[in-house]
Amino acid sequence: MKTPLPDYLARLLAQCDSGDGGQLADYIPELAQADPHKMAIAICTTDGVVYAAGDTDYEFTIQSISKPFAYALALREHGLDAVLRKVGVEPSGEAFNELSLDERTERPLNPMINAGAITTHALLPGSPGAGRAQALQALLERMTGRSLQVDEAVYNSELETAFRNLSLAYMLRNVGAVQGDVSEIVAGYTRQCAIKVNVQDLARMAGILANQGRCPRTREQLFDRKLVRQVLSVMTSCGMYNGAGDWLSRVGIPAKSGVAGGILGALPGQFGVAVFSPKLDEAGNSVRGVRMMERLSGDMGLHVM
Ligand code: DON
Repeated sequence: MKTPLPDYLARLLAQCDSGDGGQLADYIPELAQADPHKMAIAICTTDGVVYAAGDTDYEFTIQSISKPFAYALALREHGLDAVLRKVGVEPSGEAFNELSLDERTERPLNPMINAGAITTHALLPGSPGAGRAQALQALLERMTGRSLQVDEAVYNSELETAFRNLSLAYMLRNVGAVQGDVSEIVAGYTRQCAIKVNVQDLARMAGILANQGRCPRTREQLFDRKLVRQVLSVMTSCGMYNGAGDWLSRVGIPAKSGVAGGILGALPGQFGVAVFSPKLDEAGNSVRGVRMMERLSGDMGLHVM
């Protein structure tokens, strides 16, 4: 007899809970306070059914998982060509917060590293500072079907220590990739990263990417197909940073990770999936999250190749 999906997910969670490893992100002081034992997984089918196991209602900050959705919103606002003039699509092979630009074009290499994400954030509709983060939050609320909050403690904690992102933003200002008040841009980007979600929210968001931009729950077409293809392509090549090649060969699912411990994956035509556990590997990806996704991919034969 086949194992029902909820039972399978609960078992998968237990199997991946052993032999720890990894570190809490501590460059954002508030994230070092996270409970390292929290763990969850959720799947959202293209019919909008969510299956979940573990700490499924536990909220954590979205962090870099906001980046593909900010990219989607910028693409929807300005179109592909205009966005490509500002941010490239090449994997960097470097850490997410590397101070780097494409030498030839002076553009950030891609929208998943911080340099590209700060540039993308500045393309969002809304006033500089909180307005742009608010625009993204409104989009995420439409995708998840519930109202979301910003974690003010994480936001303040990151902003007080955002020296590296400020240097990135000054570098971007220097080459004309962003305009205006640099500290306001970094504040807005930091706020975008501090939006709180749970694993079911992330699975719903992933479900929309898996469903060619149509929300499985409301049937609303939020993004057109070509836009979703662009977002998933960049997630595939750059979503896991300098761990992207390893991830693609081992797991084979377009994905994006965040330093609070979430990972979101989207399998076109099948489902969206999200995992959460706070301890990270050296590339900034959740250790138990990677383990869960790897096992899920293997058990269900999900590798896209
Ligand atoms: O800008 C930062 O450093 C954080 N707000 C987000 C970084 C992040 O999530 C990297 N992903 N694993």
